[in-house]
Amino acid sequence: MRSVITGTGIGLASHVVMNEDLARIMDTSDEWIRSRSGIQQRNYAAPGQGSAELGSLAASAAIAKAGLMPTDIDAVIFATMTPDHVLPGNGPLLQAALGLRNIPTFDIRQQCSGFLYGLELADVLVQSGRYPRVLLVGAELHTGFMPWHLGWDTVIGESDREVTEAEKAENTLSRDRTVLFGDGAGAAVIEAREGSAGLLKTLLFTDGTGAGVLTMKGASFKTRPFVTPAQIEAGETIPVMQGKEVFRSAVTLMPQAVRDVCSAAGVAVESLGLVLVHQANLRIIEGVQKALGLPAEKVPHNIERYGNTTAATLPILYHECLEKGLVEPGMLIAFTALGSGMHWGAALYRA
Ligand SMILES: CC(C)(COP(=O)(O)OP(=O)(O)OC[C@H]1O[C@@H](n2cnc3c(N)ncnc32)[C@H](O)[C@@H]1OP(=O)(O)O)[C@@H](O)C(=O)NCCC(=O)NCCS
Repeated sequence: MRSVITGTGIGLASHVVMNEDLARIMDTSDEWIRSRSGIQQRNYAAPGQGSAELGSLAASAAIAKAGLMPTDIDAVIFATMTPDHVLPGNGPLLQAALGLRNIPTFDIRQQCSGFLYGLELADVLVQSGRYPRVLLVGAELHTGFMPWHLGWDTVIGESDREVTEAEKAENTLSRDRTVLFGDGAGAAVIEAREGSAGLLKTLLFTDGTGAGVLTMKGASFKTRPFVTPAQIEAGETIPVMQGKEVFRSAVTLMPQAVRDVCSAAGVAVESLGLVLVHQANLRIIEGVQKALGLPAEKVPHNIERYGNTTAATLPILYHECLEKGLVEPGMLIAFTALGSGMHWGAALYRA
């Protein structure tokens, strides 16, 4: 008995924002963003939209694709670092929105590795025999981090107002991070099935000594109250990132995790049909591909259209590979991710 992905779906935020749109509200350019990250556009949620809503859209589509009813789901794992509320988590919001039974819903974070960690948990739940049909969702709404009250209306095309020079200068302070991220959701239904297809092996890692490499200082329960006007003023509610350090870790640890998961499962890296890499930066994705010695067509990407959607990149990418007919029955597929924590790892899956 293996854990098989029987349906996938995506939920995209409504506004498509081009690099040029961002260049209207901060000192950046299409050329800089494309050449450093490969990103051309990303989706931003409409005001009032949340990651629970995007996740619910993706989940509905995944349940339908699996040929199931919402009431067939036995457990939910919702991975997000950008939930609608600090409490409760997105799991109960999705349960109510989709009319699921009063089943357990698990809210996890794990940032860019959220979907990968969720796969492992889903496998454990399914293999226990207690939860034969698990819904796994990865959804993020990064726009809440962004200081877009200084030009939000302009960037999503709801106004033609040009930002002031002071607003532009303030938006530029976070440009090294804000241009990289987008909003979105992906979901997968994971079911117990007889046969050779399914999740073969997962390897997950954490190194908390790297916690400060990508973190958010403000909105911390170590301060009273947990968020203060001074923190917002100082930009401490926007994550800080040592970009080059994350880059270095990503291009070494992800290929190593893929090699290790293949070796643990007794399969050669060359026999992989697809390697789905967390979509953070096209140069990272190409670095992983080269480190593994695989041809570019085995390492597909969609970062150019969505930017980094954190827990949502892997399920959106897998869904698009299925839709494009890139996934053949019996094909070996590796999923790999790395993100804030640091958390990283890889999963090996037979389609
Ligand atoms: C963030 C990242 C794209 C930066 O690329 P880089 O090649 O390292 O660029 P640098 O940090 O050296 O910045 C180069 C210059 O561009 C400037 N710059 C930064 N962001 C900019 C932007 N959006 N537009 C224009 N210029 C920008 C910097 O200020 C710097 O200027 P300076 O040389 O005058 O000081 C890259 O390090 C990266 O992708 N890291 C990994 C990030 C990641 O994956 N995060 C998510 C983890 S899951």
